[in-house]
Amino acid sequence: MSRSAHPAGPRHADVLPEAHAGPAPEDVNALDPAIWPITARRVDGVLHVGGVAITDLVAEHGTPALFLDEHDLRSRARAYSTAFEGVDVYYAGKAFLCATVARWIADEGLGLDVCTGGELAVAVAAGFPGERIAVHGNNKSRSELQQALDARVGHVIVDSFDEIERLAALATEPQRVLVRVTVGVEAHTHEYIATAHEDQKFGFSITSGDAFEAVRRVLAAPGIELLGLHSHIGSQIFDSSGFEVAARRVLALQARISDELAVTLPEMDLGGGFGIAYTTQDDPADPAQLATEMSKIVEHECRALGIPEPRLSIEPGRAIVGPAMCTVYTVGTVKKVLLDGGAVRTYVSVDGGMSDNIRTALYDADYSCTLASRASDAVPVLARVVGKHCEAGDVLVKDEFLPGDVRPGDLLAVPGTGAYCRSMASNYNHALRPPVVAVRDGVARVVVRRETEDDLLATDMGDAR
Ligand code: LLP
Repeated sequence: MSRSAHPAGPRHADVLPEAHAGPAPEDVNALDPAIWPITARRVDGVLHVGGVAITDLVAEHGTPALFLDEHDLRSRARAYSTAFEGVDVYYAGKAFLCATVARWIADEGLGLDVCTGGELAVAVAAGFPGERIAVHGNNKSRSELQQALDARVGHVIVDSFDEIERLAALATEPQRVLVRVTVGVEAHTHEYIATAHEDQKFGFSITSGDAFEAVRRVLAAPGIELLGLHSHIGSQIFDSSGFEVAARRVLALQARISDELAVTLPEMDLGGGFGIAYTTQDDPADPAQLATEMSKIVEHECRALGIPEPRLSIEPGRAIVGPAMCTVYTVGTVKKVLLDGGAVRTYVSVDGGMSDNIRTALYDADYSCTLASRASDAVPVLARVVGKHCEAGDVLVKDEFLPGDVRPGDLLAVPGTGAYCRSMASNYNHALRPPVVAVRDGVARVVVRRETEDDLLATDMGDAR
């Protein structure tokens, strides 16, 4: 299967549907626990999450809407901090952040990685402890850096020579920093989300010598205290081999710093990127296995280099929030389209689309979905779930088997939408970004409200009102 993004425009029928959907499932109503929130189950045919029926949630909150299983998110956060004992785990808020989730993350004892002033403002408003916040970003403004200093954040991850100067000029008390380096590793992931190869905007290259120079400048700058190096090699990674190469290269630089500058760096951050299952065909490693493998790699390398083991930190985002949410849509139209060769593709149009989940259009991402408002024993048909935007590439689920009697008014649920869906949502076509409703023990509460037409009009400088 090609991993490259398709060009804008129609997805042609030359893509073999089976390539994405696999063979027809034995039971089209079954919920694979690998891709659904922990509490998801069918009761009398209706999907329930957090002990609440999707039909009831939709009656109250409408569609499209994202439903967030609190139990699922907390369990995954705990699974990471337990598996990575002795390692500082920062939740990467870019995957999804609101004040409620920031509080849950704080409760579970994790740190928080933010990458803009906006994310930092949410964390601060939620009362997230400043010392457990790490601030990222390749272009932090003076005011964002000042905001970080005011919040007394634990770490700033510096990403450019300009930023080192900017931060040194602002800091009145020593600010702890990590230097973000690029290690030349391209993890097994989509090209657009691999960030550690050399030709990209993040970090300082180890190979070119910029990383070493950045370390020298940070050490020389007043008001900044260097704690270690940081590397993030990409996202949706399924095994530890990329981390192994990254750790080896970062630690080799650490050894050079120790030899040439007589400085021992006490910390090292290996970033996020731990993959999740979006379809039944995905098989990511579990946190315990990754933790064991990563700590072995670091231990072995440090011993070989004769340097002390730094305290490790990681920054999972997707792996904590991705599986905790599903997006529910209402079916509006069902259309059969005849393909070359006589096959038929069923286009199911729903009331959301690329404005609430751009990942399929942007990354060629695979998703699955199920008929959520009822079970059906109709013969499955291969369907493509599309949105309502004026764009032929507005596809949500490329290929999925749905019951052949799927019809307008049915509810469809797409699992695995917790990460990088609501956080990357847009107002394209003046769509109203959907709400996020947290569910737990039979109780639902809105944690991010649906935008309204008034919100859109309020940002429009026209004089229509
Ligand atoms: N740390 C750093 C420095 C990062 O840049 C990222 C993600 C993470 C941690 C968290 O990575 P995660 O564990 O969530 O994979 N929009 C893309 C993903 C972009 C990831 C950007 N950086 C997507 O929808 O797949």
